[in-house]
Amino acid sequence: STIPACDIVIFGAKGDLARRKLLPSLYQLEKAGALHRETRIIGVGRADWDIKTYTKVVRLALETFMNDDIDDQVWKTLSTRFDFCNLDVNETNYFSRLGVKLDQQARVTVNYFAMPPTTFGAICKGLGAAGLNSKPSRVVMEKPLGTDLTSSNRINDQVAEYFTESQVYRIDHYLGKETVLNLLALRFANALFTSNWDNRTIDHVQITVAEAVGIEGRWGYFDQTGQMRDMIQSHLLQILTMIAMSPPSDFTTDRIRDEKVKVLRSLRPINYSNVHDTTVRGQYTSGYVHGKLVPGYLEEEGANKNSRTETFVSIRVDIDNWRWVGVPFYLRTGKRLPNKCSEVVVYFKQPALNLFQDSYQQLPQNKLTIRLQPDEGMDIQILNKVPGLDHKHRLQTTKLNLSFTNTFNQEHLADSYKRLLLETMRGIQALFVRCDEVEEAWKWVDSIIAAWKAVNDVPQPYQAGTWGPRASVAMITRDGRSWNKCH
Ligand code: BG6
Repeated sequence: STIPACDIVIFGAKGDLARRKLLPSLYQLEKAGALHRETRIIGVGRADWDIKTYTKVVRLALETFMNDDIDDQVWKTLSTRFDFCNLDVNETNYFSRLGVKLDQQARVTVNYFAMPPTTFGAICKGLGAAGLNSKPSRVVMEKPLGTDLTSSNRINDQVAEYFTESQVYRIDHYLGKETVLNLLALRFANALFTSNWDNRTIDHVQITVAEAVGIEGRWGYFDQTGQMRDMIQSHLLQILTMIAMSPPSDFTTDRIRDEKVKVLRSLRPINYSNVHDTTVRGQYTSGYVHGKLVPGYLEEEGANKNSRTETFVSIRVDIDNWRWVGVPFYLRTGKRLPNKCSEVVVYFKQPALNLFQDSYQQLPQNKLTIRLQPDEGMDIQILNKVPGLDHKHRLQTTKLNLSFTNTFNQEHLADSYKRLLLETMRGIQALFVRCDEVEEAWKWVDSIIAAWKAVNDVPQPYQAGTWGPRASVAMITRDGRSWNKCH
């Protein structure tokens, strides 16, 4: 669909998100010719900047956070789009200043809240007071939406006072990743997988989102949040719903989100009775990552030495519905692991009868590995006869391997913010998280966090550069399985 002319309003113009992600993405969209001729970009903040100063700030952000050189022609066009509005979001009356800046024709306004969620209520109130909340106006919000169900509901209610759900775009940037989106094509365009995607054929699923980085100067934020709220509540549960959802009746926004929310509602609750057996929390100590000695979590700058915040979580998730009962989903995510690697591995059951018993007590399982990042692609592990004249079948596991970069143009593996920004301009919400999805995710996560508290759980130490605490290995070993080795 065509992209209409928009006023893109960035609240938090000075902030990290705007400078690191949004402005570089807007530059890339300009370069790709994806912005409407009349689209404008309006920074909002407390700074006393004029257009010239703001333009300089943008230029500097692009120079700092983009890998490519800035193309003069692209910059020339982009820089004509800027405007700046001096505004303290707590001063409701001042929002009329923004009204003056916006085009009076009823064009699309994309209000991007690149600020802490505690300010969302005030921003909505201000927009409402200035009459800037009517239909063509949209709001885009970043995670984390609150820190638990109560605070998240509060934010959603505050926003809902001024905007209807059809105007609200909740970002989970994993939904903008090419490989995450490809899960829909893989699952619903290929009969091979549509017919083999349930507890009759699949043994279990593993979802890993591993990072080599640590806290990167965000200790204050991270310590209040932890890996459970920062990663599981959002990204890992979103990947899980994409893997586990039933086919939607069509690809329209709400049909997709209906199916995703059904999965979240079917998650077996984890509470103090089963938390010990199904979850592991870890916290990294110093160690070597990529050959470099890095400090432990409690030794990072600004650290509270007594913190019990987790930097690693693994969980056995059960989905109690017809399709998945009996198929555990093992989730694992952490900071300071050996390398950056996000993947989904689907393990298939062994054939009903082993005809190769002479040579193999147990046949290795077929395994579909979906590499979300880096080295995007997928492979399938299958068994083959080793060529030769042996009387007995000698088998060997081999791989059918698809690499996205070799098959498709690398350009297309674009940063997800580019895609998500475009979708907000197009007005398509399918890749954004609906209110009830957020609610269900928090309900399930809150119960685990409450259970950890109730049993006074202390995170287990793991050395930086390893795959988490030993207890994480023990958890999956108890089920007779083992973690996939990420490369
Ligand atoms: C963010 C988290 O949402 O996702 C960060 O807040 C994390 O802690 C990041 O590092 C990971 O995103 P990506 O795209 O680099 O996998």
